[in-house]
Amino acid sequence: MRVIIGGGGGFIGQSLSKLLYKRGHKVTIISRQPGQKRITWDDVTKKGIPPCDAVVNLAGENVLNPLKRWTAQFKNEVISSRIETTRTLAKAISLSDHPPRSWTLVTGVGYYPPSRTQQYSEDSPGGDADFLSQLVRDWEAAAQLPITDPNSKTQLVIIRSGVVLGRDGGALPSMLWPFRLCLGGPVGSGQQPFPWIHIDDLCRLLCQTIEQEGKDGGVLNAVSPSSISDTNADFTRALSKALKRPAIFPAPAFAIQALLGNERAVMLLEGQRVAPKRTLQKGFTFLYPDLNSALAELLSI
Ligand SMILES: NC(=O)c1ccc[n+]([C@@H]2O[C@H](COP(=O)([O-])OP(=O)(O)OC[C@H]3O[C@@H](n4cnc5c(N)ncnc54)[C@H](OP(=O)(O)O)[C@@H]3O)[C@@H](O)[C@H]2O)c1
Repeated sequence: MRVIIGGGGGFIGQSLSKLLYKRGHKVTIISRQPGQKRITWDDVTKKGIPPCDAVVNLAGENVLNPLKRWTAQFKNEVISSRIETTRTLAKAISLSDHPPRSWTLVTGVGYYPPSRTQQYSEDSPGGDADFLSQLVRDWEAAAQLPITDPNSKTQLVIIRSGVVLGRDGGALPSMLWPFRLCLGGPVGSGQQPFPWIHIDDLCRLLCQTIEQEGKDGGVLNAVSPSSISDTNADFTRALSKALKRPAIFPAPAFAIQALLGNERAVMLLEGQRVAPKRTLQKGFTFLYPDLNSALAELLSI
């Protein structure tokens, strides 16, 4: 199969591409920069997408980049890098003479309102709680274009992911150094839910979605089964145990707010208890269903 991945040169895209190559598929990346095995967003706008079997969108400016101040301009970049790229792909798919069988968008569990007690599955309502949930709502809406055509052969799958834990990118590498220096600890109170998934499981789920036959779209939560009860304090304890380092220095909420701004700090100081209910119903099996197994693999040499 030929798979086109918007933003495929990033953390998740690189792992997904490796897995797709291993499974015998061909990959073309859409990037802002031209290059080998790449096309640009301008190419897609002008000429549409090349013939392919599946399209995935992973493009998006890093929301939690601590080097970028939370200004109106940066917020707009965070929004448009997701919504405009998704809209561009949805439009290209709907105009294609040979539309792909599958169209997958990776968004986030930030769709569901932050809560320490409420439990969410794929059919729970959301999308209006705060900046992030509204962003996810609009981002997912931007993907819908092709299926407004009743004759469309393309199935849309929306993968709502938790924090992706991997060796080569995402949140984990930057969390490791304070722990290695014995300066680690929970974020804020530590009582906020911590929905997460191992990068290998996310990429396996994406592959399963891409490879499946038939029309079976909809939302899938990409979180480990233990995420329904894991808190930031649980993650801190598991990381401390895996690294054999103490975790006694909490990162106070006011410091996180000062660094990231209040609206962004919510993403670290609050969270959602999320179950991968439909994902499990579809027969997906997690290689790393709990924090201890995931961290043991990610921190092994
Ligand atoms: N990592 C996580 O924990 C996590 C969790 C939930 C959801 N997600 C979502 O999954 C997607 C992929 O995440 P990731 O961790 O792989 O991100 P990443 O490593 O930051 O890569 C995303 C890609 O998006 C492209 N991009 C960045 N800024 C852009 C902009 N302003 N306009 C257009 N394209 C831009 C870049 O590709 P080029 O430089 O080649 O253009 C980059 O390689 C993102 O949408 C993210 O929100 C991630």
